[in-house]
Amino acid sequence: MAHLITLIPGDGIGPEVAEATVRAVDATGVSIEWERVEAGARALVEQGQLIPDDVFASLEMTRVGLKGPTATPIGGGHQSINVSLRKKLGLYTNFRPVRMLPGLKTRYADLVNLDMAIFRENTEDLYSGLEHEVVPGVVESLKIITQNASMRIAKSAFEWSRRESRKKVVAIHKANIMKLSDGLFLKCCREVASHYPEIAYSEMIVDNTCMQLVMRPETFDVLVLPNLYGDIISDLTAGLVGGLGIVPGANLGDHHAIFEAVHGTAPDIAGKCLANPTALMQSAVLMLAHLGERDASARLHKAIYATYAERDHLTGDVGGKASTTEFTDAVISRL
Ligand code: NAI
Repeated sequence: MAHLITLIPGDGIGPEVAEATVRAVDATGVSIEWERVEAGARALVEQGQLIPDDVFASLEMTRVGLKGPTATPIGGGHQSINVSLRKKLGLYTNFRPVRMLPGLKTRYADLVNLDMAIFRENTEDLYSGLEHEVVPGVVESLKIITQNASMRIAKSAFEWSRRESRKKVVAIHKANIMKLSDGLFLKCCREVASHYPEIAYSEMIVDNTCMQLVMRPETFDVLVLPNLYGDIISDLTAGLVGGLGIVPGANLGDHHAIFEAVHGTAPDIAGKCLANPTALMQSAVLMLAHLGERDASARLHKAIYATYAERDHLTGDVGGKASTTEFTDAVISRL
């Protein structure tokens, strides 16, 4: 039976990388019926809503989505599409594996075994959208940290680490300043860690983490973070392995999952067939595994890695000259 998947192409380079990824996934031979729905700036213009009702209806039915980046208009009172989807569908874990691809000439290229996993809390913190003006000239943004959400993300990180035989989990915080909020996050991480004695647990302040990641990225294994630090550290780690065009992501809840790249809509290169679809393709590798299609997942993963190892059809952001389509054709030819 075909898997039914909600496809949200998104804005900017979204439709280009989504089409490339759909072609690559279909070429694995897995039977997938894609249900296309629009969300984002284009949906706002064409249908008057950033997230039209059919997006939620489709995700309620399929429970699995593949999503391109979407643009949320700045100002004007719009809540971010990603924040809305994550909250409404209870996608509390943002999982971002960061690995070095073969053949990439980054500053850290000699760290061929660089392999980190980021578990970012996805539903609260400063992304709660609770902001108000206290008096003219003074505004407040509320940072919400709850025991419930902190326990959930810590459990996600430790459960995955146990399953994948990972050795170390580090919780990232600024509890020296935010003693109550980040303090609660740490308390929950410690509590969960105590149930996984085989995994080493440590804690690191977020500013030091930035420096350590740049100086000694190979010493990191699994990172668990509240929402904002997770957002920032994800981009930093993407930079270590070749940029935003590379790194995949998964938003996971108890009942739904949405797979999407870390990058945004890249308006500077949209519509030019220059975008690197690797990040969304690698997100699709995670999606296929989630669907239980382990063989197809492994084959797509290998085809992407082989294309990088050969270095003959890479896109401009990673030092090549190929278009989105040429890179995609190269991956498909290796499946
Ligand atoms: P961005 O990720 O769109 O772009 C940053 C830089 O990375 C640009 O130079 C861009 O050309 C490059 N880049 C990103 N993805 C690439 C790819 N696949 N191939 C080659 N180069 C790539 O970040 P920016 O400029 O901060 O945000 C632009 C828009 O994207 C904003 O409206 C933002 O809200 C939205 N956004 C959406 C996200 C999502 O839907 N998941 C995530 C992040 C941003």
